[in-house]
Amino acid sequence: MAIVTTTEMFRKAYEGHYAIGAFNVNNMEIIQGITEAAKAENAPLILQVSAGARKYAKHVYLMKMIEAAVEDTDLPIAVHLDHGPDFETCKSCIDGGFSSVMIDGSSLPFEDNIAQTKKVVEYAHDHGVVVEAELGRLAGVEDEVKVSAEDSSYTRPEDVEEFVSRTGCDSLAIAIGTSHGAYKFKGTPTLRFDILEEVERRLPGFPIVLHGASSVIPEYVEMINKYGGNMPGAQGVPEDMLRKAAGMAVCKINIDSDLRLAFTGVVRKHFAEKPADFDPRLYLSEARTAIKGMVQHKIVNVLGCNNKA
Ligand code: G3H
Ligand code: 13P
Ligand code: ZN
Repeated sequence: MAIVTTTEMFRKAYEGHYAIGAFNVNNMEIIQGITEAAKAENAPLILQVSAGARKYAKHVYLMKMIEAAVEDTDLPIAVHLDHGPDFETCKSCIDGGFSSVMIDGSSLPFEDNIAQTKKVVEYAHDHGVVVEAELGRLAGVEDEVKVSAEDSSYTRPEDVEEFVSRTGCDSLAIAIGTSHGAYKFKGTPTLRFDILEEVERRLPGFPIVLHGASSVIPEYVEMINKYGGNMPGAQGVPEDMLRKAAGMAVCKINIDSDLRLAFTGVVRKHFAEKPADFDPRLYLSEARTAIKGMVQHKIVNVLGCNNKA
């Protein structure tokens, strides 16, 4: 199996009322934990790389490790640029072997978002690569960008047909109340399913993407807090809401924070219990195992994409 685009994955997910997990990768143990989980559950998979991950690990290292994972698992795996900030970054990922890129023009005025997205779509499609775009603005923290709740905005359903037809994008991320990071809701979690429904009605069959979709799994937050961390008030998207979205037009669900929490929780526990250890293979293998278990849980209980590879 070679690296694939998301086209076929999304078509089947839409028709089958499930979603594909898009997990952020930054190093070998994260890649292995996620891909071992997908292998165990025979699930299609999207591995996504942010600009920050490329800066941290270098494009070529991540690409070669993902190629190794494809060879090792024989699964359909798409390699996606997460939150591409500009045309040049998208081009560099397309030229460097990614099968999918996101151009994130969500902070731009409508016409500028269209122009930038269209430029990326033209280059990507010429090279057999698909494009995710974004309309509406999520709150939260991604890399150096922090969007306050006041600066966030829900997607306006009346804009989506024009945006998709004028840009030619292949999938669309929308803002319905999720946010990036570990502090998503101040009070009761609420998502605007009415917006998702209206988008679905206006774009029948078109794949929708949900960012900021970690559940901020309490088990790992508690582990972090028990072993010296300090994350009071951390709160994520309830799993039943994600399952509901996956049954609707949402075909791609983005998860990063839950990976970070599982990794960090287990490493903190390791050093609290074995303070004399100094072999990275010992604590990194525990982190990899935790990620595998967490991703298997998502695939089976949240995404519903087990046995869909
Ligand atoms: O949505 C953003 C992802 O969580 C990636 O985060 O830019 O810190 O790698 P990052
Ligand atoms: P979380 O912070 O909820 O994991 O969202 C990740 C994401 O949207 C990556 O693009
Ligand atoms: Zn995101």
